Amino acid sequence: MTQDFNTARAILEANDRGGYTVPNGRVYPFQWNWDSAFVALGFDTFDRDRAWIEIESLFRAQWPGGFVPHIVFWQEDEGYFPGPGVWDSGRTPPTSGITQPPVAATIVRKLWESALAAGQADAYQARAEALFDGLLAWHRWFADHRDPGGHGVVVAMHPWETGRDNSPEWDAPGESIDVSNVGDYVRRDTGHLDAKMRPTKLEYDRYLALVQFGRAAGWDHPAIARSNPFQVADVGMSMILLRANRDLLALAQALGRDGDEIAAWIARAEAGIHYLWDGERRTWCSRDLRTGRSSGYVTSASFLSFYAGLRDPQSDEAMLAHFDRIAGRVRYMVPSLDPDDPGFQMIRYWRGPVWAVVNWMIGHGLAEAGHRARAERVRSDTLALIRDTGFYEAFSPLDGSGSGGDDFSWTAAIALAWQTPG
Ligand code: GLC
Repeated sequence: MTQDFNTARAILEANDRGGYTVPNGRVYPFQWNWDSAFVALGFDTFDRDRAWIEIESLFRAQWPGGFVPHIVFWQEDEGYFPGPGVWDSGRTPPTSGITQPPVAATIVRKLWESALAAGQADAYQARAEALFDGLLAWHRWFADHRDPGGHGVVVAMHPWETGRDNSPEWDAPGESIDVSNVGDYVRRDTGHLDAKMRPTKLEYDRYLALVQFGRAAGWDHPAIARSNPFQVADVGMSMILLRANRDLLALAQALGRDGDEIAAWIARAEAGIHYLWDGERRTWCSRDLRTGRSSGYVTSASFLSFYAGLRDPQSDEAMLAHFDRIAGRVRYMVPSLDPDDPGFQMIRYWRGPVWAVVNWMIGHGLAEAGHRARAERVRSDTLALIRDTGFYEAFSPLDGSGSGGDDFSWTAAIALAWQTPG
């Protein structure tokens, strides 16, 4: 795959806008939060300094209260809707008012350990300390403003916050969003891509209604947490934050910083995360905080329990059984929705397609938990998709066809990061 790795590097370089990387030049022409974290992993394989700059630029857009936005609008671009004027966050640089899965601490730990292994600790120590402070403040913001029930989980206030925009997990909770005053707007995504691969009009109306709600509240996060019409404890973000806190604690120890506050967050999550276990469907899944109802869906995010470091024999066994059942049904693991679910659609975004970044997390989690063969299946399927189809945003788990944009930064980054197992 040498040729593919050269192409992957070329994609990152082409999508580099000088200090930050766009996910895709046409469909997503700004800086996205968790995309940048994964992109840094890719850069780290050939340009260490540039990898650090990617995360540092994201944190330059951090708000005073610790919040890190899901989009940073470093420059104008008409190719995306809703742009900075719709969000109206009042910040410089302009940003959105919601966040995204906090994968960055895990990646910063990896960057730090890679610098250490290369004998460059001195050159990166001060930069690691500065990022540690930003990450700590962001994770504190999660603890303060995204866990209103005190369950030790992450409550998403917008489907976009979860990074899994149109997952069926948001269908029932989304019904309580009033879309009658959304007004007219022109989507840009369906101008670039086949509408069959994208969220529906109703879903977009809900996304916009929530943006309008947050903007009317002046992006006051405590106020939004009290009254937002969408409040869902997201299994993906909850597992990712638990994992990220473990990595942040390891960083604290490596840098000689106090880790007590982080250890307390981990303990709270370990005690509370069972809120996201659905005993009837025997799966980890999201739960609507407003109704208490569990989604019951087996999604790719359900398999992040291994990555989160949960080691519970009963739920592990159930998740491994789901994994093996699904692995027998698809050519490429891991579909974003259970193919046995009637709502499964092989190319519609988060209702079926495989996402390389989610696979990277699932694969690492499985390997760490000792499930090596399954981990290797996830890694080799991901690389096969890229080799056979290209660097698409996502892929059909059945025939490997590309879904969404091509020349996608985070897909290129995962190809580079996964050149060798581990
Ligand atoms: C879509 C994805 C989200 C990603 C963004 C940019 O909104 O659902 O996870 O961060 O595109 O790639």
